[in-house]
Amino acid sequence: MKRKKQDFISSLKKWYKKNKRDLPFRKTKDPYLIWLSEIILQQTRMKTGMVYYKKFKKKYPNLKALSEANHEVLLKDWEGLGYYNRVKNLHSTANFIEKNLSGIFPNSQKELIKLKGIGRYSSSAIASICFNEKTPAIDGNVYRVMSRVFGIKINISSSSSYSYFYKRSLALINGFESSGDYNQSLMDFGSIQCLPKKPLCSSCNQNKICYAFIHNKQDSLPIKKKKLKVFKRY
Ligand code: ADE
Repeated sequence: MKRKKQDFISSLKKWYKKNKRDLPFRKTKDPYLIWLSEIILQQTRMKTGMVYYKKFKKKYPNLKALSEANHEVLLKDWEGLGYYNRVKNLHSTANFIEKNLSGIFPNSQKELIKLKGIGRYSSSAIASICFNEKTPAIDGNVYRVMSRVFGIKINISSSSSYSYFYKRSLALINGFESSGDYNQSLMDFGSIQCLPKKPLCSSCNQNKICYAFIHNKQDSLPIKKKKLKVFKRY
């Protein structure tokens, strides 16, 4: 492995050891609970998400309890989080697993992504955290951190960017004993240190190797260019 990648990994591990957030769902590898936390966090801030995670964990402690929930009551419990498709998919997927998969949660990214409401990001997050599968979870944090550290100038709004970042991340996730730690260290690093605006570069342990810091390009990386809409006139 190249020296820069090695340095990035060893600094990220050190950073995570020191700065890892103490989150309630980090005490378990129960795929049901990790799934629940990932779906809640999709469009919700951590602080709010944690309140709902605890409430749902208490009221619906396992897949069976969620599948047996009254749908209207469940929607009411979700109130305040919005994006109701998330809870509708949670309920429908819980029922599907109970009825069709003997109540056993799929244990690979390939199987997880087939479930309603579980996309490429969530399936990788769940598979890496619960089953230590080497599958990178690519979100905005990953685009930002990797673009900056490695000086990647690919437009992250382009359709090919996901597979590019996924492939590059595969080389890095291999450097971690725990794939869940790799994915979650990047989530924390992106939300605490490598912030979208005003990243905390002077206290960052990647600043000796970070392309953006060295070239003062923090504001222009990652590159995010939306396609201009072409309006046809007739
Ligand atoms: N955001 C979504 N999932 C997360 C996780 N597992 N850890 C930290 N932030 C997250």
